[in-house]
Amino acid sequence: MDFLDQKLSNYIDQHSQEETPLLKSLSRETHLKALLPQMLSGHPQGLFLSMISKMIKPKFVLEVGTYTGYSAICLAQGLIKGGHLHTIDINEELHSLCLNYFKESGLDQFITQHIGDAKNIIPKLDMSFDLIFIDADKQNYAVYFDLIIDKLNSGAIILVDNVLWSGKILNDKKDKDTQAIHDFNRKVHLDSRVENLILPIRDGISILRVK
Ligand SMILES: C[S@@+](CC[C@H](N)C(=O)[O-])C[C@H]1O[C@@H](n2cnc3c(N)ncnc32)[C@H](O)[C@@H]1O
Repeated sequence: MDFLDQKLSNYIDQHSQEETPLLKSLSRETHLKALLPQMLSGHPQGLFLSMISKMIKPKFVLEVGTYTGYSAICLAQGLIKGGHLHTIDINEELHSLCLNYFKESGLDQFITQHIGDAKNIIPKLDMSFDLIFIDADKQNYAVYFDLIIDKLNSGAIILVDNVLWSGKILNDKKDKDTQAIHDFNRKVHLDSRVENLILPIRDGISILRVK
């Protein structure tokens, strides 16, 4: 869901840096070939991820939820020399599509795609991350946070997508996913290890900064 009206969204598109031809093509192919193409970060959210990554200059980035690799490419753009992005997805069907685009982006040697359940893979990753993007199944957001928080350097940033869930977060009666996101938002807001801010970008993005 977009929280801005169409005219303002158009204005933002027209006055922000253009989407690159590669990301345009990835977005087009995702809409043609993948189920639920609305899951793709797209433009301008991808630009936001890329900007944050370039500001942080991370050595290690972790992404939970690769899908077709759009956000992975954006996040990898800020890696410092010698840096690496690990991205995890449970669905192996989109693996080759991702690899093609990682190659075309010239970032493939800096990206490792893990196929499997993030709950099993995260504990096996033995490095400290500077930037994390959580964008997988909503019911496990809190689990991912708990698995990740001890793998972070002070000052590390966790970005979390869909935290306003099309505004459903305000409903008195919440379905399972909405309740899980609401519980996650409360949990991190009360967690003294992080500072938190929810931004009304696209479907809501949380920025958590490790103290
Ligand atoms: C919203 S999409 C990710 C979109 C992507 N980050 C982007 O912006 O282009 C969510 C992805 O999470 C994956 N996913 C769901 N449950 C998962 C799990 N337990 N472990 C790893 N990935 C999972 C899905 O297969 C799906 O591709």
